[in-house]
Amino acid sequence: MTDLEAPRADPVGRPLPEFQEPSPLAGTGPARIIALCNQKGGVGKTTTTINLAAALADYGRKVLVVDFDPQGAASVGLGVNPHELDRTVYNLLMERGSALADVVRPTAVEGLDLLPANIDLSAAEVQLVGEVARESILSRVLRPAEEDYDVVLIDCQPSLGLLTVNALTAAHGVLIPLECEFFALRGVALLIETVEKVRDRLNPRLQVDGIVATMYDSRTLHSREVLARVHEAFGDQLLQTVIGRTVKFPDASVAAEPITTYAPTHAGAVAYRQLARELVARGDAA
Ligand SMILES: Nc1ncnc2c1ncn2[C@@H]1O[C@H](COP(=O)(O)OP(=O)(O)O)[C@@H](O)[C@H]1O
Ligand SMILES: [Mg+2]
Repeated sequence: MTDLEAPRADPVGRPLPEFQEPSPLAGTGPARIIALCNQKGGVGKTTTTINLAAALADYGRKVLVVDFDPQGAASVGLGVNPHELDRTVYNLLMERGSALADVVRPTAVEGLDLLPANIDLSAAEVQLVGEVARESILSRVLRPAEEDYDVVLIDCQPSLGLLTVNALTAAHGVLIPLECEFFALRGVALLIETVEKVRDRLNPRLQVDGIVATMYDSRTLHSREVLARVHEAFGDQLLQTVIGRTVKFPDASVAAEPITTYAPTHAGAVAYRQLARELVARGDAA
């Protein structure tokens, strides 16, 4: 067998297919909406949102990133200072009559738009409680995006509160970034239970698209053990693409760019492009 034919494996030993470059799309939409959720902070939700979005846009997809965290990290990471903006996702949620197209902004990445958020959004959590159909407000706000985009990625805040329930109610799928460290699995059962409740009560189309392992360090036994445990617990819900730990990600955030433009040939950029191809191959993204 030549090297070319040699089976490649993912870090838990499953054969790794090539994941073909996605074919061009005939037109735009209907968008598939994916919520990136994990109530734990610092696990790679925002990093995955930005870089997966940029990779999908590089493959010719029209992508909208919805920053749904009052910290505004996805906005900052895509080059927008949301604290200077008058209008953000908050206005769309709270003011009837404000239009999505007036708040969405282009980014430096072609094909990638941003619906920004800032600290105003933290008030929405409380204010939405008194609204009619309070769990479905984001879903309604995003309806016009369904025909203008191929993929919408929602970067959730680290909680399972009303904002995250709104994201789950708007979504077709949930992608769970999981940091490869010892307590990573704590909380995932509760997250999946929340997803199931939202599916039963609010959004029958909702599915768990997969778990994406982040900050993996192949040199440590610890990282490999965590990944093996995740595979044991979740089987093929664990995506084959694993994102390695590298300082290039914080560096790219400081530069306010996706790694795919900041360091396009770096292993981190290669990994997010593979994640994009894997999701397309699984039918989870257009
Ligand atoms: N694969 C990685 N390797 C190293 N650092 C990472 C990686 N992914 C994310 N980070 C860094 O870890 C921190 C938390 O990541 P972030 O994506 O903001 O997590 P979350 O949105 O879940 O809170 C950030 O400083 C980010 O730059
Ligand atoms: Mg974040």
